[in-house]
Amino acid sequence: MNDNASIPDLSNLWMPFTANRQFKQRPRLLASAKGMYYTDINGRRILDSTSGLWCVNAGHGRQEIIDAITRQTSTLDYAPGFQMGHAGAFEAAAAVAKIMPAGLDRIFFTNSGSESVDTALKIALAYHRSLGEGSRTRFIGRQRGYHGVGFGGISVGGITPNRKAFSGALLPAVDHLSHTHSLEHNAFSRGQPAWGAHLADELEQLIALHDASTIAAVIVEPMAGSAGVLLPPKGYLEKLRAITEKHGILLIFDEVITAFGRLGAATASDFFGVVPDLITLAKGISNASVPCGAVAIRREIHDGIMNSAAGGIELFHGYTYSGHPLAMAAVLATLEIYEREKLFARASAMAPKLEAAAHKLNGVRHVVDVRNLGLVAGIELAARPGAPGTRTEEAFQACFDQGVLLRYTGDTIAVSPPLIVEDEQIDRLFATIKSVLEKLD
Ligand SMILES: Cc1ncc(COP(=O)(O)O)c(C=O)c1O
Repeated sequence: MNDNASIPDLSNLWMPFTANRQFKQRPRLLASAKGMYYTDINGRRILDSTSGLWCVNAGHGRQEIIDAITRQTSTLDYAPGFQMGHAGAFEAAAAVAKIMPAGLDRIFFTNSGSESVDTALKIALAYHRSLGEGSRTRFIGRQRGYHGVGFGGISVGGITPNRKAFSGALLPAVDHLSHTHSLEHNAFSRGQPAWGAHLADELEQLIALHDASTIAAVIVEPMAGSAGVLLPPKGYLEKLRAITEKHGILLIFDEVITAFGRLGAATASDFFGVVPDLITLAKGISNASVPCGAVAIRREIHDGIMNSAAGGIELFHGYTYSGHPLAMAAVLATLEIYEREKLFARASAMAPKLEAAAHKLNGVRHVVDVRNLGLVAGIELAARPGAPGTRTEEAFQACFDQGVLLRYTGDTIAVSPPLIVEDEQIDRLFATIKSVLEKLD
C-alpha cells in the first residue's frame, strides 16, 4: 500500500516478532503519530486501537512528555546508575511507588518488560537465599503465559513457538499451571468469566509434587494480553494468593500490560483486590516515549535482602540504563498526565462502552468468542481448517487498509485502545472489524 511514497532499503533490519519476508513484500510503514492516530508514509490516518503495543496509554505525542524529555536531555543526558545517582530516578521511584498497592514501595528500574521479569525472578531467588532458604529455586509459570523474551521469561512463559527453538537452554527448574481459557465454559463472557477458579488448585498439586521448599515464586499475568486476551476466572487470583501465602512462595504479577490504567485502575492488583509480592511493569510507565520498565517490590523483600548482605553491594544486578535520566523524566511526566486527566477512572468509565460494542460481534461470521475486561477486548475467530491464524492475519491487514490498527495472536484479535479513546472511535473500530469479518473466507 506504499505505492506513492519512497520506501527505504528494507534489507538490513531483522524485524522482531515479524514475518520479515512477507512484511518486506508489502511493508506497513508509519511516519508520525498524534493522539489516537498514526499517519503512515502515504499520509493515511490510522486509528490506533492497540495503544501501539499496549503501551501508549495516554495517547501519542503528549506535549508534556516531549517537553520533559527535551529539558532532561539538554540538562543531564546520562548518569551512571551504579554507585551514582540523580534526583530524577529517586523522584520517579517515589511516584511509581505512590500508585502501587500498599506495601510494594521499593522500585527497581529496568528498560523493558522482559528485563523486569528476569529482575523479579532474580529478586525472588535472592530473597529466599537471604532467609536461608536457598533451596527455593523453582518457578511456576502458566501455559500460554507471556513474560517477555529473556531466558527467564521464556522459561516461565508458556507460548510454545517462543520456547521451542531455545528449549535446550531454558531454566532447569520450572513447572507450569494450566491456562484458564475455555470456550466450552466461558464463551462470550462479559468481564471475568464465572468458570475456572478451581484451576488454581493445580498449584497445590505442583507443590505436592515438588515440595514447597523447592519453589521460589509463582508468576502469572493477572490478565494475559499477548497470548490472546485470557481473563482470570472469578476467584482464581484470590486462590493463587492464598496458596502461595500458605506455602511461603512469592507471587509475582506480570503487569507489563495491565498496569497504568488498562483495566481502569492503577494496577490489575488494585482492580482485582489481590496483592502479590512483586509486580513487573513497563510499557505504560513512560507512555512508551522512552523505553523503561520497573519492578515494584514488597518492602520486606527489599529489606530482607538489604539486611542479610554482609556489606557492599546487596544485589548483583542492574542495567547500564536502569533509571536513565530521559526515561525518568518521561515516567514523571507520564504519571502526572495519568493523575491530572484521571485516565484510569476514564478507562473504567469507557469500559462498558467497549464491552457493549465488542459483544455486538456475537453472531458475526467466524466469531466464536468475544471477551473483555477494562479497555481490552478479545475477538476469537474459528480457525481456518488446516491454516490456524490466517483469518486473523487477513483481518489485521484488511482493517489496516481501512485505517484501523489491530493486534492479533493466533486466532484472536486484540483491541486495547489508548485510555483517551472516544465513543465514536470505539464504534468505528468495531464497525470496521465487523465489515472485514463479513467479507473474510
Ligand atoms: C505480560 C508481559 N510481560 C512481559 C512483556 C515483555 O515486555 P518487553 O517487550 O518490553 O520486553 C510483555 C510484552 O508484551 C508482556 O505483555
